[in-house]
Amino acid sequence: VNFERPNIRAMNGYISGEQPQGNDTIKLNTNENPYPPSPAVNLALQNLDISALRRYPPPTASSLRNSVANLHKLNPEQVLITNGGDELLRLLLATFVSLDETIATASPSYTLYDVLAAAHGCRMKHFVMQNWILPIDIAQQLNAASIKLCFIVNPNAPSGVLIPVEKISQLAEEFKGILVVDEAYVDFVNPNLAHDCVKLINRFDNLVILRTLSKGYSLAGLRMAYGLGQESLIQPMQYKTKDSYNTDLIAQTLAKAAFEDQTYAQDTWQKVRSERVRVRAELESMGFTSPASESNFLLASVPTTENAEDLYLQLKTAGILVRYFKVPQLDNTLRITIGTPEENNCLLSTLSKLLQKKY
Ligand SMILES: Cc1ncc(COP(=O)(O)O)c(C=O)c1O
Repeated sequence: VNFERPNIRAMNGYISGEQPQGNDTIKLNTNENPYPPSPAVNLALQNLDISALRRYPPPTASSLRNSVANLHKLNPEQVLITNGGDELLRLLLATFVSLDETIATASPSYTLYDVLAAAHGCRMKHFVMQNWILPIDIAQQLNAASIKLCFIVNPNAPSGVLIPVEKISQLAEEFKGILVVDEAYVDFVNPNLAHDCVKLINRFDNLVILRTLSKGYSLAGLRMAYGLGQESLIQPMQYKTKDSYNTDLIAQTLAKAAFEDQTYAQDTWQKVRSERVRVRAELESMGFTSPASESNFLLASVPTTENAEDLYLQLKTAGILVRYFKVPQLDNTLRITIGTPEENNCLLSTLSKLLQKKY
C-alpha cells in the first residue's frame, strides 16, 4: 500500500547539491561561505553550559531575536527566528496559503519553492524573467492570476542579479498578495549600492524578508535564519504554526555569537566580493559570459564551443564541484560559488586547461 497523500505521491523531492565527505574536493556548488565562522562561535561553544540543555530552549530565541531586531532597527515582534530559511518558506505556506490557492515565483529561481508548493498541495505559477529582469507588469500579472504569495529571490539565484529597492517597493505596493523577498545572499551585495529593503518593512503590511546565517555567517551546518515583517505576518507563524521549540539552545547561542561579530562577517563578504570581480574577469577572458552578480556565485555561460554538462563532469573528475542545472534556460551554464583565492585559482587553471584540451 501507498499511504502518501496524492500530491506527495505525484511529486519529486528537492535535489540538493552534492555534499562530498572529506576535504579533498574544491566545493563550489552550494554557495557556502568559503571562510570558517567567526572565532566568537568557537568561544561560545566552549563556554556553553551543558546543564542548560536539561531545559527547553527559549521558544522565540529571544536573545538572538533581540540582537537581530537591534541590528535592523525593528521591534522584536517583527522578527521570527527559524531553523534555516527553508523552515520559514514552509511556514509561510502553512500559515497563509490554502490548498485551493496559487503561489508564484519569478523564474528561474530556487527550485525548493516548487517542491514546497507540491508538498503543501497548492498550485505554483512561474513568471519567467527575460535577462534576469522582472516583467515590467509583474504586479498586474500576479493580481490577474489571484496569486496569494510570491517568492522573489534578491539577489536572484542562480544569476546573482540584484533587483533595486525601488522595484521591490513598487511590487509590494501594487501586488495584492504577500511578497516574500528571499535575501539569502543579500550580505554579498556591494555596500556602495546602499541596497536596503528592510526599511520597507514598516511601510508594507504584505512584505516578508528572509535572511539566513547559512551564507553570510558561514553557518550552513547550524540551520539558523530569520524572517522580518510586520506583526500581522510574523505573529501567526511565531505563535501558531511553528514548532514551539523550532531552534535549539546550542544553535541559538552559536548563531548569536556569529551575528554579533559583524566585523568578522563583513570581512568575509568583502573578500568574496573582490574575488567575485576577479573570477568573473578571468572567466570572461576565457570566453565565458556571466551577468554581473551581487551574490557569492556567478552564473557562467560556457563558450559556444563547449558543452556545460561535459565541463561540469570534467571539473568533477578533477575534484572541483560546481552546479549544473539540466533545465532548458540554464543548460549552457555553470553556477560557480566564489571560493577562497586558492580555490578560485585552481578552478580557473583547471578550466583553462580543459578549454585548451590539455587536461
Ligand atoms: C535562494 C535561497 N533561499 C533560501 C535558502 C535557504 O537557506 P537555509 O535554509 O540554509 O537558510 C537558500 C539556500 O541555498 C537559497 O539558495
